[in-house]
Amino acid sequence: MQLHRPIELLGTSWMLLAGLLVPLQQAAEAEGALQRRVVVVGSSVLLAGPADAVHIHSARWEYLNGSVSRAVVQYDEGSHYVAIHPPYVGRALFHPPNGSLLLEDLQESDSGIYKVTINLAERESLKVLLDVLKPVSRPQLWSSGLVAKATGEVLCEVVEGRVDTITWKKDGQALPRGRGFHVSGSLSILHLRAVKKSDCGSYSCNASNGISWQETSLNVTVAGLSPPLKDVLRIAVVAVVFAAVSGWGLVFPVCQSEKLRIRGELWRWLSAYTCGLVCVSSILAGTAGLLWMREEGPSIAVILPEIVLVYVIVVTFLVATNVTFQPTKLIQLKSTTAQRTMGYTAPGGVLLVVLTSSFHIKNIHHRHEDGCTAFVDVTALAVSTAAVSALPLLAIFLCYHTTQGWQNERDSSCAEKERSSRSFEMSLPNIKDPVPTC
Ligand SMILES: *[C@@H]1O[C@H](CO)[C@@H](O)[C@H](O)[C@H]1NC(C)=O
Ligand SMILES: *[C@@H]1O[C@H](CO)[C@@H](O)[C@H](O)[C@H]1NC(C)=O
Ligand SMILES: *[C@@H]1O[C@H](CO)[C@@H](O)[C@H](O)[C@H]1NC(C)=O
Ligand SMILES: *[C@@H]1O[C@H](CO)[C@@H](O)[C@H](O)[C@H]1NC(C)=O
Repeated sequence: MQLHRPIELLGTSWMLLAGLLVPLQQAAEAEGALQRRVVVVGSSVLLAGPADAVHIHSARWEYLNGSVSRAVVQYDEGSHYVAIHPPYVGRALFHPPNGSLLLEDLQESDSGIYKVTINLAERESLKVLLDVLKPVSRPQLWSSGLVAKATGEVLCEVVEGRVDTITWKKDGQALPRGRGFHVSGSLSILHLRAVKKSDCGSYSCNASNGISWQETSLNVTVAGLSPPLKDVLRIAVVAVVFAAVSGWGLVFPVCQSEKLRIRGELWRWLSAYTCGLVCVSSILAGTAGLLWMREEGPSIAVILPEIVLVYVIVVTFLVATNVTFQPTKLIQLKSTTAQRTMGYTAPGGVLLVVLTSSFHIKNIHHRHEDGCTAFVDVTALAVSTAAVSALPLLAIFLCYHTTQGWQNERDSSCAEKERSSRSFEMSLPNIKDPVPTC
């Protein structure tokens, strides 16, 4: 008795197990009954009847879509009649011996479940899920303008063909499936948070369905600089060039001997032009600072120079306009403080513009390193600005050198030449009094 117990127990547990397994097996069979066939538009497919059908007296193929069913083919052995229903007329061929159905010239709308019932017995039925697909078209791949530290996206869209999966690769390495976010079947978006230099590279997008796949690649670059920062860079470069040219205009008279020093009308023009240039370069440097702060937030390292720049702008503007239009007024400014103020403002302004602009250019260059695009080419801008701004100075110096021998004479012919060569400079009234430099 005691020996039999374990065997009995084993027997019952086996039966229990078998009882559990049978429904599972049935479920698996039911799953297996729904085969899936994937075909391309325009092709044909042979849907086989149930393999275990011995003799077919009658058969019915129907198309199921949701709860709706519609007949495709009806066959009755007694009448030898095969009825083919629209829209399959001319496209369907039924084989009575084995119950298989050949469908030709398939369209996307033919996709669905096809069910065959043999001899009206539900038990002898079979379902086939038919997917008629168009081949996927080549995906279109593009990126939103990626700027370092901002958020960005790389998008992949397939215009034609139902897409089952879209997979992403970067530099040949598969990206985790979770990275691509499917908005709809045919659009996948790769979100990049806080874009980095390491996000640069070749991205490819592989769109596939049961019958085809297509892949497209795109070289994605990350810009280190946003468009406003590029503007700041350009403005700062122009400011530095203007400051350098006006510095040249300031240094030139100092380097001359007292006897040969530039005087008279030429001196006045030199002063007015140099002062005006310092004023303009200060305005540009100030603008660059403001734009920088708008992008990067206020900082004391930018605000303090801005305040001084405003002072330089006001003083140089007043001097330049007075030298140009009211030279007599300036001569009356005898106070040494006023003279000193004017004498130091322009060189100080030049220095400040060079310093602040260099600071911006250095910061912008640093910021540019966060991306992988080429640095903004400012050579042409710098050279052309330098050429244009130095031209009036060159004309003044040329005039000075040709008239050096005749210091005492008023050289009106030279002044005429001067005027014509400096079309972009403000016109000057003919005032003969000598004035102090800026
Ligand atoms: C059924 O019969 C047709 C015609 O004889 C044949 O072409 C087809 O391959 C058969 N189907 C299967 C599943 O054997
Ligand atoms: C199948 O059903 C869907 C929605 O239920 C419908 O949009 C589609 O047109 C139907 N297809 C056919 C071939 O009837
Ligand atoms: C694209 O995806 C399909 C389906 O997943 C795959 O068969 C194919 O090899 C992939 N192509 C490339 C170039 O990886
Ligand atoms: C991407 O860049 C690499 C190397 O710079 C080049 O060989 C390739 O052709 C580029 N691909 C595309 C799609 O532009």
